[in-house]
Amino acid sequence: MRVLVSGASGLIGSALTRSLSQEGHTVRALVRRTVRDPARESAWDPERGYLAPDALDGIDAVVHLAGANIAAGRWTPERQRAIVDSRVGPTGLLAQRLAAAARPPQVWISASAIGFYGDRGEDEVDETAGPGAGFVAQVAQQWEAATAPAAAAGIRVVRARFGLVLSPAGGALARLLPMFRLGLGGRLGDGRQYWSWVTLADAVAVLVTALADPSLTGPVNVVAPSPVTCAQFARALGQALGRPAWLPVPALFLRLALGQMARELLLSGARVRPAVLLARDFPFTHGQLPLALRDLLAKTPGNPAVRRP
Ligand SMILES: NC(=O)c1ccc[n+]([C@@H]2O[C@H](COP(=O)([O-])OP(=O)(O)OC[C@H]3O[C@@H](n4cnc5c(N)ncnc54)[C@H](OP(=O)(O)O)[C@@H]3O)[C@@H](O)[C@H]2O)c1
Repeated sequence: MRVLVSGASGLIGSALTRSLSQEGHTVRALVRRTVRDPARESAWDPERGYLAPDALDGIDAVVHLAGANIAAGRWTPERQRAIVDSRVGPTGLLAQRLAAAARPPQVWISASAIGFYGDRGEDEVDETAGPGAGFVAQVAQQWEAATAPAAAAGIRVVRARFGLVLSPAGGALARLLPMFRLGLGGRLGDGRQYWSWVTLADAVAVLVTALADPSLTGPVNVVAPSPVTCAQFARALGQALGRPAWLPVPALFLRLALGQMARELLLSGARVRPAVLLARDFPFTHGQLPLALRDLLAKTPGNPAVRRP
């Protein structure tokens, strides 16, 4: 396949690019900077609504992962605008161009997030659940809705609702590791909020499967089948590192330091079931968190604290 990838330099995009290239597919990255390698890159300027006129030529599939990092810092009004604007407008631009293409790609995978479901306490949710409340849930709804013109034009659109993607190379786990390595980790708040996680390798495998499987369409929860509470997560991470992890971070401290971002991303969550993937017997490599963490951390160079299984 010839696959066009936006956000290709990011955590998921770079791993996906590697995986697709290894499997013999041709990857073309949509880049916001100047094109350096015209054979492998096409230009776009999502803020200005520009996509190179030939970007979709000869493309079989598009994977759209671009978006300003949602956890990069306190959600000031400017930051919230950047989070929304870097998703909704650019997704709409791609949708319009895909819908209008003379020879459209067969499939478009567009990133979304399980933040779509909002804070659900202990309730289990799958793809049939409606949207929740809050900033992230609103962003996810608008982000997904922006794909509609492509779906209406008959393109198979997969909305990949990612959970917490785990990799020592980036994202949430990489941020937690320094404190946990020092033995200063612990649950956040009361620790009862659910964190629905997936390893980077499995997230990439889901995307590769979704490119090839014509029966996959619509929302797909990209999470492992065994979500854990934040307290269970902290315990498992401490155990995987051979470090104590009993220093809770008070909710009040997080709310004062990070405001709404702490409330929505750290102190609340959803217990998400990957019903669509389970119905297809998707072969998760990492189904249980303790083994997933041990596997991920064993592969981290310079990590003497790792207790090997
Ligand atoms: N990782 C997770 O745990 C997780 C969970 C839920 C949802 N997601 C969503 O999945 C997608 C990919 O995740 P990721 O972890 O790979 O994200 P990431 O590492 O933050 O990468 C996102 C990429 O988007 C592009 N980008 C950054 N700022 C942008 C802006 N202002 N406008 C347009 N593009 C911008 C960049 O690529 P270029 O510089 O190459 O353009 C960046 O590398 C994101 O949309 C993210 O919100 C991720």
